[in-house]
Amino acid sequence: MLHYKILRISNTSFLFIMKLTFLLSISFVLFGAAHAQQLKSPDGNFILTFMLRADGTPVYSLAYKSKAVIKSSKLGLELKRDKKSLLDDFTVVDTATTSFDETWKPVWGEVKTIRNHYNEMAVTLNQKETSRQIIIRFRLFDDGLGFRYEFPAQKNLVYFVIKEERTEFAMAGDHTAYWIPGDYDTQEYDYTTSKLSEIKALMAKSVTENLSQTTIPATAVQTSLMMKTNDGLFINLHEAALINYACMHLRLDDNMVFESWLTPDAIGDKGYIQAPSVTPWRTVIVSDDARDILASKMTYNLNEPCKIKETGWIKPVKYVGVWWEMITGKSSWSYTNDYPAIEIGKTDFTKAKPNGTHGANTANVKKYIDFAAQNGFDAVLVEGWNIGWEDWFGHSKDYVFDFVTPYPDFHVKELRDYAKSKGIKIIMHHETSGSVRNYERHMDTAYKFMKANGYDAVKSGYVGNILPRGENHYSQWIINHYQYAIEKAAEYKIMVNAHEAVRPTGIARTYPNLIGNEAARGTEYQAFGGSKPNHVTVLPFTRLIGGPMDYTPGIFEMDISKLNPKNTSHVNSTLANQLALYVTMYSPLQMAADLPENYNRFRDAFQFIKDVAVDWDDSKYLEAAPGDYITVARKAKGKNNWFVGNVNGYQARTSEITLDFLDAGKSYMATIYADALDAHYKTNPQAYRIRKMMVNNKTKLSQFSAPGGGYAISIMATGKK
Ligand code: NOJ
Ligand code: CA
Repeated sequence: MLHYKILRISNTSFLFIMKLTFLLSISFVLFGAAHAQQLKSPDGNFILTFMLRADGTPVYSLAYKSKAVIKSSKLGLELKRDKKSLLDDFTVVDTATTSFDETWKPVWGEVKTIRNHYNEMAVTLNQKETSRQIIIRFRLFDDGLGFRYEFPAQKNLVYFVIKEERTEFAMAGDHTAYWIPGDYDTQEYDYTTSKLSEIKALMAKSVTENLSQTTIPATAVQTSLMMKTNDGLFINLHEAALINYACMHLRLDDNMVFESWLTPDAIGDKGYIQAPSVTPWRTVIVSDDARDILASKMTYNLNEPCKIKETGWIKPVKYVGVWWEMITGKSSWSYTNDYPAIEIGKTDFTKAKPNGTHGANTANVKKYIDFAAQNGFDAVLVEGWNIGWEDWFGHSKDYVFDFVTPYPDFHVKELRDYAKSKGIKIIMHHETSGSVRNYERHMDTAYKFMKANGYDAVKSGYVGNILPRGENHYSQWIINHYQYAIEKAAEYKIMVNAHEAVRPTGIARTYPNLIGNEAARGTEYQAFGGSKPNHVTVLPFTRLIGGPMDYTPGIFEMDISKLNPKNTSHVNSTLANQLALYVTMYSPLQMAADLPENYNRFRDAFQFIKDVAVDWDDSKYLEAAPGDYITVARKAKGKNNWFVGNVNGYQARTSEITLDFLDAGKSYMATIYADALDAHYKTNPQAYRIRKMMVNNKTKLSQFSAPGGGYAISIMATGKK
């Protein structure tokens, strides 16, 4: 279904555009500028305007249904070594407009097929003084705008160093924003909701509350940035296809103008570019209905099609893990407590003194494998299986992990065979400790070890400073490492779930073996002191815009001291809210993060986690307001079963939905797992009730959700009319 047409072949529209350009150029010549070009989205709701100012500075603006989204904003890049930057002195050499319409099938996803439909305008600019040429390519979809810079191969622009990208996004008002600080090393923040004008004053508070260690620019925020305007627009700024470039944050000035702010490398440079080359796409997703932001597939559409030829080995995964017990402090990753005595390569672990709390011991792993097999899970994640944790915690050395040497109580082959006999996969864990060159040196051996022992997915982690140069977590150098790890894993048919790596930008379209990322504040923070109860009503509007998150939901015991008396954290969520996350936080990789014993206490509620699908043919966004509530319905892949999830913010609320997405004339059995009327994320989180009822596509539901609560519904086809 590929369809590519050049707009200019239509004589009438060509003539019309000529006339329009003529008129526009006359009017702009009067003001000393020229070359205003306009592009419309396929449905006509968006209008993009591009022009050069009198000094040859490229600018653009964007309107949606006649409302200003981006006011006149500059485009360009400041270079470090070159005498002249790529900021001004440009003339337009060529403007090419095309239209594109295709439908593609993701390997996994929220929907079976995705339409990629846009109008494009590529403007070739020539810098008069230097004769250097760049292209600015705009793609206008029905859900928003993507644009990027391109540097074609040429004599006068072979390679250069970026001092700063100077792309502006001038906001049309003092919008409400859902933001986290522009940290270079972590996205693991609670979101702050404030007016744009309040960001500066609230930044320090947010950084302190979240205990960030990093020095960050005072007015920069991270993307994906979600905003709501006073006149009812929802605007999301992010990037797509972040490849061989630094991650973009946004710095706000006092006039409500955001400017791109790239993550510097260890010596402060922002990018090394060699032509031919392109930047990531800068994206602006817009609608007057918040649900459209959740449904947008623009970020994926701006990425290249799948580059993995045979994808049959890439499969969605529902898993449990030897994990929450370490996160809560109930057990340990390390085998001994003998930190100073351990020396990698010298210590014989079979002689080391066990601490008695090591989680990844063979008997415990078998317990999880049994639980997984009995309850229909695909896999068990095991962390703390390999030597190195003592040394890392003790010394922060950069050669700690080799990713192939198990602790003496983790029997690789015995567990491989046991898992296989039960039809369960073990998920590998590679904590790199930020020692990226060490990881790259061991990568082939580590991936081969995985294949030899039956592992086909790895959770990797990048905790701590990036060694050896002290890189930030999101600079170009390490973005290239994350990409290398994904592509190398694909060669071995290995799926990747990277934690503490850069937030995704739709790359999973091209490399669908990237089945998960963390890159935001996940459930682990509920055991590190707690997260805001409305956190999960923001994440789908921000972090999930670029791809799925390994959020690790499913906590049933909210009082963490019950697991570890020394840990007084409280999980700020009701149990029903935890169930809803399997639907609202889309991911082809879903964990049931709590311990088997906690699931066994609430078997009736656990049934939802057993039933819920991890791959979908369709998704309907029923209700949405960032920070307040999200209700989503999804149809299980290849089945006529639906699952609905609602997550709720601070205020109790009654959600009103119609099940009109069900097939007409068919009846279904719905099981509703909902907050009890007296449920509350803090005081009464485990109060839920379950009820069953027959439903059809006419059924209307009025369903209560408590503060920090929600509901989950399974809707199974009965085969009856
Ligand atoms: C932080 C990760 O987010 C967490 O999931 C992991 O268990 C620890 N690092 C240890 O690698
Ligand atoms: Ca983390």
